[in-house]
Amino acid sequence: MTILVTGATGNAGRRVVDELLALGREVRAVTRNAAAARLPAGVEVVEGDLTRPETIPFDGVTGAHLLTNAGDDYADLLTGPELVERAEKAGVGRVTVLWSGSRSPLEEAVTASSLEWTVLRPVDFMSNALVWAESVRATGEVREPFAYARSALVHEGDIGAVAAAVLVRGGHGGRTYTLTGPEALSVPEQVAAIAAATGREIRYVEQSEEEARAGMLAAGRPAEVVDLLLGWKRDMPAVGYTVVSDVEDVLGRPARSFASWAREHAGAFVSGADTRR
Ligand SMILES: NC(=O)c1ccc[n+]([C@@H]2O[C@H](COP(=O)([O-])OP(=O)(O)OC[C@H]3O[C@@H](n4cnc5c(N)ncnc54)[C@H](OP(=O)(O)O)[C@@H]3O)[C@@H](O)[C@H]2O)c1
Repeated sequence: MTILVTGATGNAGRRVVDELLALGREVRAVTRNAAAARLPAGVEVVEGDLTRPETIPFDGVTGAHLLTNAGDDYADLLTGPELVERAEKAGVGRVTVLWSGSRSPLEEAVTASSLEWTVLRPVDFMSNALVWAESVRATGEVREPFAYARSALVHEGDIGAVAAAVLVRGGHGGRTYTLTGPEALSVPEQVAAIAAATGREIRYVEQSEEEARAGMLAAGRPAEVVDLLLGWKRDMPAVGYTVVSDVEDVLGRPARSFASWAREHAGAFVSGADTRR
């Protein structure tokens, strides 16, 4: 009962790995760089690249967790159809697909396949807030645009728990789940929760969109990614801020709150601890 996890070193995929181990499953984790992967003992770490489907070892696995984009530009994975064909040929039973903002070629191929598929559509991850850790430590400030915008942020641990439950227990074939947290929060509200968790005063400073754009470009983000991210935050579609019960429906317990996430990650904002593992 081995389950293959792509994106296993990432915020969400790492939690899929942890949850599968907790459910007693063998895990084959895919990474492009095994030496840097830092995955738990007992995990079979294999080097593979989703843009080269022949490098993804589907042989002998009963389930797979698949990303729909790869690389740093949020571009859809164009090799989706070939990955799905290879998974079918290898006899993979169940597949979870991690949506990333649009209906990708991989999602198209999976939903047309013979695999027992489940699409997971997370809204913004709570872990995105870790990008503020450095400025909180250095200046006690969080600078972000769009103070009005709310997001139904989901705890990445809940993404992992849902994916693992779907892959291990079954009964979710042909379903698409939207994964949210229990409330929609603005950035100032998130900052207040981090301040409460760390016991530090943290100021929220509203940036103009142009200031935010300049900062993201200076940090090396490609212009099209900057447009995508700012557009999502500025004009968030209803799916991004609407709280739904899919996490609780699958797990039988409430979705985790941002306040609990902030307590788990307080060390990142205070001392720079790597709280992701
Ligand atoms: N952050 C959000 O708010 C949000 C919301 C909805 C959906 N998503 C989507 O959720 C997915 C996971 O996000 P995350 O934050 O967990 O990821 P992350 O921390 O940014 O890490 C990216 C992961 O993707 C893997 N990866 C990238 N390119 C790859 C390739 N060519 N072949 C194989 N693996 C590759 C990396 O593996 P190695 O570096 O180890 O090779 C790493 O595990 C992404 O597709 C993202 O678009 C994110």
